[in-house]
Amino acid sequence: MAHSKPARFLDLAALFFWVVLSSIRVCAQSPGQALRDAGVEARVEALVKQMTLEEKVGQVIQRDAGGSLTGPGRGGSGWDSMAARGEFGSLFNLTNPPWINAVQRAAVERSRLRIPVLFGLDVIHGFRTTFPVPLGMAATWDPSLVERAARVAAEEASATGIRWTFSPMVDIARDARWGRIVEGAGEDPYLGAAMARAYVVGYEGARLDASDSIAACAKHYVGYGAAEGGRDYNTVDMSERTLRQVYLPPFKAAVDAGAATLMSAFNSLNEVPTSANAFTLTRVLRDEWKFRGFVVSDYDAINELIQHGIANDARTAARKAFLAGVDMDMEDGLYGNLVELVRSGAVPEATMDEAVRRILRVKYALGLFDRPYVQEAPRSAGIKAEHRELARQAAEESFVLLKNDPARNGAPALPISEGARTIALVGPLADSARDMLGSWSTSASRPEDVVTLRAALTARCRERHLNLLYAPGTTVSGQSESGFREAVNVARQADVVLMALGEEGTMSGEANSRTRLDLPGNQEQLLTAVAGAGKPVVVVLFSGRPLALTSTLPHMSALLEVWFPGIEAGPAIVRTLFGDAAPSGRLTVSFPRTVGQEPLYYNALNTGRPAEGLDLTHPPRNAAERYHSRYIDELNAPLFPFGYGLSYTRFAYSPVTLSATRVSARTLNSQNGASLRVSAEVKNTGNRAGEEVVQLYIRERGTSVARPVRELKGFKRVALGPGESRRVEFTLGRDELAFWNIDMQNAVEPAAVTVWIGPSSAEGPQAQFEITE
Ligand code: NOJ
Repeated sequence: MAHSKPARFLDLAALFFWVVLSSIRVCAQSPGQALRDAGVEARVEALVKQMTLEEKVGQVIQRDAGGSLTGPGRGGSGWDSMAARGEFGSLFNLTNPPWINAVQRAAVERSRLRIPVLFGLDVIHGFRTTFPVPLGMAATWDPSLVERAARVAAEEASATGIRWTFSPMVDIARDARWGRIVEGAGEDPYLGAAMARAYVVGYEGARLDASDSIAACAKHYVGYGAAEGGRDYNTVDMSERTLRQVYLPPFKAAVDAGAATLMSAFNSLNEVPTSANAFTLTRVLRDEWKFRGFVVSDYDAINELIQHGIANDARTAARKAFLAGVDMDMEDGLYGNLVELVRSGAVPEATMDEAVRRILRVKYALGLFDRPYVQEAPRSAGIKAEHRELARQAAEESFVLLKNDPARNGAPALPISEGARTIALVGPLADSARDMLGSWSTSASRPEDVVTLRAALTARCRERHLNLLYAPGTTVSGQSESGFREAVNVARQADVVLMALGEEGTMSGEANSRTRLDLPGNQEQLLTAVAGAGKPVVVVLFSGRPLALTSTLPHMSALLEVWFPGIEAGPAIVRTLFGDAAPSGRLTVSFPRTVGQEPLYYNALNTGRPAEGLDLTHPPRNAAERYHSRYIDELNAPLFPFGYGLSYTRFAYSPVTLSATRVSARTLNSQNGASLRVSAEVKNTGNRAGEEVVQLYIRERGTSVARPVRELKGFKRVALGPGESRRVEFTLGRDELAFWNIDMQNAVEPAAVTVWIGPSSAEGPQAQFEITE
């Protein structure tokens, strides 16, 4: 392309500037800083200036390689020849290093401007080392562990040439019917923000341009988890306040942590599809949050604007999405229309330049221009021991003990007593390696890497000279009772029965909404039959969502929710059942009594007619009992609340202590405003060591808008030996006490505040303080 002399002089000046700046760049540069790096900016500017319109449009197009080197190019050409022609800026679903290098070589050595391709993949809960599903990872309440797991995923994925993952999913989900609840951190924005931060920092590492860092993609922006009726892709309608208060905070946390990219969602939000929503994509994300990375659409989401009804043709759909702020088009090919759209003036070239700048900025920040290739030398074939170890630790921390009743001898059913000599293992999920991987395993993950519960238990029983009897009983979704007799038979001979029940690994995730939340197939009947043998029944529950267990719970002595634990499922479960590890996970989603309670979440508003203090165990008998926000046939409370989880020991909480009982809103709102210290002493009163997740909640009253009955504003995981106690302290400042008020300002207002420090959203001692003018 011909260049005028001044333009070339400017390019050279920019490059000189970059060389000088990069030589004085500080070593530890956070990922967020990389997107603000002056050296990167200079290179981006220099490159954009040289690009033709076609080359610019190429950068905003992403294609799905579908795991194949052969692309849809004319004349049988593959992805490599398309890359040489600059026809896409990113390719995903290719995980084979020689193929990745082949495409990259075409882009870097054969295309005019040598712009490298960004290779992406859904690395959701590990690459080769599969960790628990994200809902399980959240149940650890351990952001540092989540960060380490994301780092492992980044190391493994980047070793094959993947430098971009479509993770974390930070959608708040308050409805267990929605299958994608498994992919996020659950129902709470505070916890969701902490997890979002942890994933981003883990994936992107200390420096985004390190060869083992991968760019994060916070998705699905935004409100996707609020689909009506829990039906995937369905309509979302909510107030701007709820959006800002509940659904946006995890995205904001991801952006502030340096997330290089975001993915726009499938759903409409207040009648405007989120992949063409200028309010969320431009006003909030760019103008308010100053996001400097780029936005990719979800798969085909731009084309779906036609189905949504806001475009009657592909050209209009592309124009609307692009002008609203979607920089890159995932797979549907509609951004090819941008050449003509820019030429005709329907899309300003300046808007195109800005989108290209954002994409190139991420590519430069990743160091792709300097090191475009992945090393092809053979690496160790297996999973590193320390990665496997971390997967086990993550699984153990994710398990939530929901019930642990005394068995016949008076001791709790778990951990399994020394006296149990014969163990029966029953259920369709006891030996299913594939299910342990849950939804979204990568092409690198392998069922043969998984140690199932049956395999781990067999090893343990051999080691301890215990008898193990096994009968699957049924399949997950099956109706045949032909295996029941054998299952009951092994249960009769055993001292304790372990039942591996739940959903298949792929019954949650995308396009897996359910209207029933009970155990699938005839598993409930199997449980009833086995419980009839009269032995203690310990249910190990595998699920990607909360299940409604009201009718099954009475048949269980103990219930351990293990989600889908990943490759170390078996060892982690066995260690927990035998007490080598103590359960310390806590729910991040409310478990309903019945599906009819959904959407169900703890941080709800009080209503004008709360049912607090009423006996809801029977239908209303008079007007005083009836005219409340209640059901006539079920309690309001969940079966297990948010934050809940038992341990093998007990923890006691002292009264809550406050550093002050009055604090002024004015001081809190000021930049270097005051904060309040809140603490309680937590004591392990049992005779085993354990870890408690100490949770801080608040409620504000007397404010300009109604605030939830409880909101999580802090949590800490503390390990306590028997008899040990510790004072656990939190601070409450502007970040915790501000909310979007009647004027849509994020501010602290005068209020009467109740603060709880406790083991769940439904328990714990409280104290009061006042926020004055
Ligand atoms: C569609 C899903 O909604 C999204 O989460 C995923 O990242 C893309 N497909 C790419 O596979």
